[in-house]
Amino acid sequence: MGDLGRGQLVCLDDFEARARELLSQRAWIYFSSGAGDEDTLRENRNAFNRYWLKPRVLRDVSVRDTSTTVLGEKIDMPICISPTAVQCLAHPEGEIATCNAVADMKTVMMASALSSKSLEDIAATRPTCVKWQNIYIWYDRKITKDVIERAERAGFKAIVVTVDLPELGSRRNQIRMRGGRAQPSLSGLQLRNLQKYMLEYSGSEEETKHLVMSDNRSTWRDIAWLKTVTKLPIVLKGILTVEDAILAAEHGVSAILVSNHGARQLDSVPATIDVLSAIVAAVGDKMEVYIDGGVRTGTDVLKALALGARAVFIGRPVVYGLVCNGEEGVKSVLKILSEEFSRAMALTGCSRLSDISRDLVSGKSRWSKL
Ligand code: FNR
Repeated sequence: MGDLGRGQLVCLDDFEARARELLSQRAWIYFSSGAGDEDTLRENRNAFNRYWLKPRVLRDVSVRDTSTTVLGEKIDMPICISPTAVQCLAHPEGEIATCNAVADMKTVMMASALSSKSLEDIAATRPTCVKWQNIYIWYDRKITKDVIERAERAGFKAIVVTVDLPELGSRRNQIRMRGGRAQPSLSGLQLRNLQKYMLEYSGSEEETKHLVMSDNRSTWRDIAWLKTVTKLPIVLKGILTVEDAILAAEHGVSAILVSNHGARQLDSVPATIDVLSAIVAAVGDKMEVYIDGGVRTGTDVLKALALGARAVFIGRPVVYGLVCNGEEGVKSVLKILSEEFSRAMALTGCSRLSDISRDLVSGKSRWSKL
C-alpha cells in the first residue's frame, strides 16, 4: 500500500478518516458535505444498519463467483464507481488514476460530467476499462449532444444522465466556506471536459456558470430527445420514487441508479436502501436497477443485492482512496469492499450472486405510504 504513514487502512471508513487528515479543510468540506442538516447523509449509513442478515450454514462456499453483467458488460464484482466531479482536487492524476484502478479491478467507471480530465484522456488511459459517461442535460443542447457524441467516439458504453440536479443542493459548510456564496467559483475548478465550450463562450463568469449547470427546465421530453441523439443505453441517475422509476421504464431507458446524490441535493429524502425494494418490485423486470449512497461495507453490498439491486456504486470512497494513495488507493478501496462482500457471501451460504435472495435480509424500510 506504499507509504501511508501510521496505521493500516483496513476498511473504507479508515480511508475516510485518513483522507480527512490529509485534505485541506476546503477540499474535505467539498467532498464530504451533504445538504441541509445532513439528516439524509447520516440516514444513508444508518439505514443499512437497520437491515440484518440471515446466515445459512453447511453449504459449500469453497468457490465463490462474484461476477455479473451490467448492461451486457461482464464485470468481476457488482461494485462499480459513481461519478464524482473534479477528482484532481483529490489527487493530481484524478480520473486517470481512477480509470487505471477500475480497469485492474474489472468493473465499471462512470466518468463525471464535471471531470477534471477530458473524457478523451480518460478513455485513452485504458481502452479495455468499461466506462459510462455521465452527462447533465445542459442549457445548451448542442453541448449536451456534443458531449454524447464525443463519448460515443471515445468508446464509452452508456450515457448516465443526472436527473436530480435542477438546482444545486444547499451544502451549508461549502456556502460558509465561500463566505455565503451559494455557487462555487469556476476559476478554482479544472473542468477539462467542458473547457472547450467554456473557452468558446465569452459570457460573464455568471453566464459561464449557467453553461455547466443542468437545465432546470428539462423534462421527460428531453429523455425522449436523448434517445434520438444516441444509440447507447441510457441510465437515469437520481431516481428515488416508484413513480419516476415507472416513468423511466415508460421512456425506454436501460437502467436506473437509485440515488439521492450522496445526500448532497435535498435533505430529508429517504435513504436509498429504504426505497430500493419497492422500486425493484415496480420496474425490476423492465430494466436494471442499481443503487448508490452510503455503501461502505461488504454487508451493505450484500443487503443491496438481496433487496434487488443488480449492482452497487460508490462515490466518496473512491475520492478518499485517491487522496490516500492515488490509483493504488482506489484499488485498495475496491479490493477491500469486494473481499468483504465475498466473505459476507460465504458466511450467508452464498457462492454466486444468484444465491443471494430476498429472504437473506430482514428489516423494515422507514419509507412507507402514510
Ligand atoms: C458527487 N456526485 C455526483 N453525481 C453526478 O451525477 N455527477 C457528478 O459530477 C457528481 N459529483 C459528485 C462530487 C462529489 C464530491 C460527491 C461526494 C458526489 C454524486 C455521486 O455520483 C453519488 O451519487 C454519491 O456520491 C453516492 O454516495 P456515496 O457513495 O458518496 O455515499
